[in-house]
Amino acid sequence: MDKPVSLQMQASELLDAVIIHYKGQPVGTVAACDPTAPDLNYNQCFTRDFAVSAFVFLMQGKTDIVRNFLKLTLALKSHERQLDCFKPGEGLMPASFKVEVRGGQEYVVPDFGEHAIARVTPVDSCFWWLLLLRAYTQVSGDVALAHTPAFQRGIRRILDLCFRTRFDLFPTLLVPDGSFMIDRRMGVYGYPLEIQVLFYGALRTARELLLPRPEEEDYKVGVEERVHHLAYHIRQYYWMDLDRLNEIYRFQVEEFGAAVSNWLNIYPDSIPEWLTEWLPAAGGYLVGNLGPARMDFRFFTQGNLLAILFSLADEQQSQMIMALIEERWSDLVAQMPMKICFPALEGRDWQLATGWDRKNLPWSYHNGGNWPVLLWLLAAAAQKLGKPLLAQNAIALTQQQLQTDEWPEYYDGRQGRLIGREARKFQTWTIAGYLAAQAILEHPQHLQLISFEDEPVMLTCDLAPKLVEGYSDIALGSD
Ligand code: GLC
Repeated sequence: MDKPVSLQMQASELLDAVIIHYKGQPVGTVAACDPTAPDLNYNQCFTRDFAVSAFVFLMQGKTDIVRNFLKLTLALKSHERQLDCFKPGEGLMPASFKVEVRGGQEYVVPDFGEHAIARVTPVDSCFWWLLLLRAYTQVSGDVALAHTPAFQRGIRRILDLCFRTRFDLFPTLLVPDGSFMIDRRMGVYGYPLEIQVLFYGALRTARELLLPRPEEEDYKVGVEERVHHLAYHIRQYYWMDLDRLNEIYRFQVEEFGAAVSNWLNIYPDSIPEWLTEWLPAAGGYLVGNLGPARMDFRFFTQGNLLAILFSLADEQQSQMIMALIEERWSDLVAQMPMKICFPALEGRDWQLATGWDRKNLPWSYHNGGNWPVLLWLLAAAAQKLGKPLLAQNAIALTQQQLQTDEWPEYYDGRQGRLIGREARKFQTWTIAGYLAAQAILEHPQHLQLISFEDEPVMLTCDLAPKLVEGYSDIALGSD
């Protein structure tokens, strides 16, 4: 492959230039450094954005900044008791933080969503934190950090948040709108794919890093059970290909009881018109969301690519997701890898799902915009599936453009040919995503930092929640 060394050097220098320091130590990177746009909160270090920078730093052998970030955000993690209903729940990790100087003192100020536009909850932050901890451990060999009491407690608190008793019967996680990369109202509340995939990666990480001690035993048992049920649920029910579409098309509805095939009561009429023509015979993907009487048929890129990397999609499904991307290249990759989701919501759907959000107009921003940061996951997934050429083509398509356009946050239009109307320039994860993609192709061993081996799914009980057969000993007298 052609090595545009100077472009990589420029990108590396840009990344180093946006490092945030605290007490003289590197602790993170700002989200964007665009002198022509208002800062809003782009001058803060976002957990999900920093994750991409962190993977690059780790690939470059720079472990200090990642270690500092992990320690700092662990300290920032919410310590509020869960019963205090107006405070972030214990274990929640901040969406972002900034370092402020007041009276000559440095203060680290976290944002759990209390300041963010529309007050969205960063559910994904704690999952990225765990994934980074695993990658840090692999590169540095410093397992001792993850084994310290503070880190073991941190892992348990995250699991507490996920395993809490809830109003729900699925192995997936129920979350509010905008709780991950798509952090605006976009009809992604409920059981969005990206959260479920990150949750799966986090569970596998917790399993690797929890110590074999009595304090952790219950958590290890819980993780073991959940990880298999989650994998089964996603592989079985989120999966979409032509066979599955045919099955759904002929679904019976209003079925009652335990042993029914359309147990979520999905109405075949909800299958969107675009899908029947668009779905290639050889491809498939994981749908965007699944809940009672609801299947969101949109293709969400980050969730699907991470599912390949984490082996949440099985081997055949992974190959079919990549086949779909190849078959529908001009829709999904187009001129700028790659679309955050497909297709865009339009008309009344757009009005109702986004609340008339003009930043999320059809084919813009989160609503079908093209996000160059996704290049690194495309490259990693292609590399994992033995298709480095595909990734090279995607990189070749973008690199000059990204430099000329000054590393925009996102692109607009069906083909991704317009720099996003409100896109920041010098967006850090665009720069880091490009560097990570190059590094993975040049040194495929880096793949292990973000991937998990395939493993068989083993269920410990029937998938359906245990049915109560009835009680005969209920006392009705006064006690
Ligand atoms: C936007 C993105 C979000 C990102 C943030 C900082 O809000 O939607 O995913 O973390 O910008 O770049």
